Amino acid sequence: MNKELLMCDAENFRIDYVINPYMHTGRQPDRPAALAEHEVIAKTHAAAGRTVRFITSAPECPDMVYTANGALVAGGRAVLGAPPAPRRPEIPYVRAWLTEQGYEVHDAPYAFSGQGDALVCGPFLLAGHGQRTDRRMHAVLAGLFGYEVVPLRTADERWYDLDLAVGVIDARTVAYCPQALEPESAARLRGLGLDLIEVTPQEAALFALNLVSDGTTVTMTTGTPRFAAELRARGLEVAELDTTELRKGGGGVRCTALTLDNAAPDART
Ligand code: ARG
Repeated sequence: MNKELLMCDAENFRIDYVINPYMHTGRQPDRPAALAEHEVIAKTHAAAGRTVRFITSAPECPDMVYTANGALVAGGRAVLGAPPAPRRPEIPYVRAWLTEQGYEVHDAPYAFSGQGDALVCGPFLLAGHGQRTDRRMHAVLAGLFGYEVVPLRTADERWYDLDLAVGVIDARTVAYCPQALEPESAARLRGLGLDLIEVTPQEAALFALNLVSDGTTVTMTTGTPRFAAELRARGLEVAELDTTELRKGGGGVRCTALTLDNAAPDART
């Protein structure tokens, strides 16, 4: 997994509105720094042997660099995101790209944060709700993809997407911040029989969990050395990258990469 990713250039990345607690219109990205930071992330994916495809950003879509929210893609199918109003103009572009590539594309009938709230982990789909995703989406996703959906509710708006509270390392290993999930959800995650790694709320607030892992290499932010060391101690390659500019929009490494090669469970065996 995570050997084929969809990214979007950062040419039009700005903070035009505020839809999460990390965004401030008075704190704009530094354009050259943002472009450079984004390019390093894309090149690091490529260096890890991942194929990076690109969608072209649209001037009226300042958050389009965060491709993770555009859809959930698995086994040749895609369900488009249904984001907060300011981000809705992105969706027709995502639809057009996925359709052109031959994916069977479905609309989300309810609010849905795309992969931001839908992380594949082996047979499970770790599925966020309560912030940007309507819980009714879980049945839609289960029906279309066949995963065992594990509903996880995040504790508050700092974790407006599940990919800030949970990071999938491989099909059996998940890193998470217990305090970023509601207690029942944390208990549910602990009951799955996965190998779990814990991070602190401070580490999670630095977007430590907003990582891309293919099971061999973990691509993540700088600033959380304890967690990075723990991953290395498990034998993983870890690339720690600056995410200063992306952070201004409330996102990190995971948010900028929509996974295209999630295996649907029926396609597995
Ligand atoms: N500014 C964007 C938003 O609030 C950031 C999205 C980050 N994406 C993510 N998967 N967490 O929608």
